[in-house]
Amino acid sequence: MTNSLENQKIVVIGGSSGIGLAVAKAVAAEGAKLILASRSESKLEQAKTEIGGETETYQLNISSEESVKNFFEKVGTFNGLVITAFIGLSGPFMEIETVKARQVFDNKFWGSYYAAKYGAAKLDKNGSIIFFSGSAAEKPIAGISALAAANGAIESLARSLALELGTIRVNVVSPGLVETPAYSGMPEEWRQGYFESVANEIPLKRIGQPEDVAETVIYLIKNKYTTGSIINVDGGNRMV
Ligand SMILES: NC(=O)c1ccc[n+]([C@@H]2O[C@H](COP(=O)([O-])OP(=O)(O)OC[C@H]3O[C@@H](n4cnc5c(N)ncnc54)[C@H](OP(=O)(O)O)[C@@H]3O)[C@@H](O)[C@H]2O)c1
Repeated sequence: MTNSLENQKIVVIGGSSGIGLAVAKAVAAEGAKLILASRSESKLEQAKTEIGGETETYQLNISSEESVKNFFEKVGTFNGLVITAFIGLSGPFMEIETVKARQVFDNKFWGSYYAAKYGAAKLDKNGSIIFFSGSAAEKPIAGISALAAANGAIESLARSLALELGTIRVNVVSPGLVETPAYSGMPEEWRQGYFESVANEIPLKRIGQPEDVAETVIYLIKNKYTTGSIINVDGGNRMV
């Protein structure tokens, strides 16, 4: 049976952990060649071992325009770009140091911007860019204002680029709460309590798994008539 992502080269920035790693596994299972990038060489090596197949890895700091530019020069032409890289920041707006809020933008918003700018030049004209935002862009959560604002900025950027980049499709995946290493810094008991309280509130009664989100990414890579869209994968969280 012919696999529709065979002979395609897909770049996942942030593919060494959580949702990005699940995307990488799903892309590899579809037969695509995979390019994974993130900062940590050891996380990349671990991911490569888990994924197997034809996986190339590159160390990259998405907050650095130079680093992103050099990365795409090395990668050459490709068919799909997925950007899941981010750093979290939580705390009261009035107490968080501005420098830390700026780092969130440097990483998530400007990182996505640089990746689209230098990636689009090497991307197949029928390829696609998939950005990540998050449900806090639409449904605010106290204590993550910088991240919520970066998510909103990414959604606006994506709609503009869907108009500007010709036949390259540009879409956004907006997850709700998904169980990933992004929450590993929380004490175990708090984390479980938080996950359970969110699960109880939302229509689908469970928090998301990285694989739930990866399915949406595969859809967006394959579907040739969706652009400028924001797809919510949140168990219905934004409605309650
Ligand atoms: N999990 C959730 O509940 C949730 C909810 C809403 C939205 N999202 C969004 O979904 C996306 C993925 O989140 P996740 O939970 O899967 O996160 P995660 O498990 O923490 O993974 C984040 C990835 O980003 C990479 N990264 C961080 N800073 C980087 C940098 N400067 N340059 C290159 N790579 C960098 C990390 O690798 P290195 O450490 O090796 O750099 C890691 O591979 C993010 O955009 C996040 O905002 C997640």
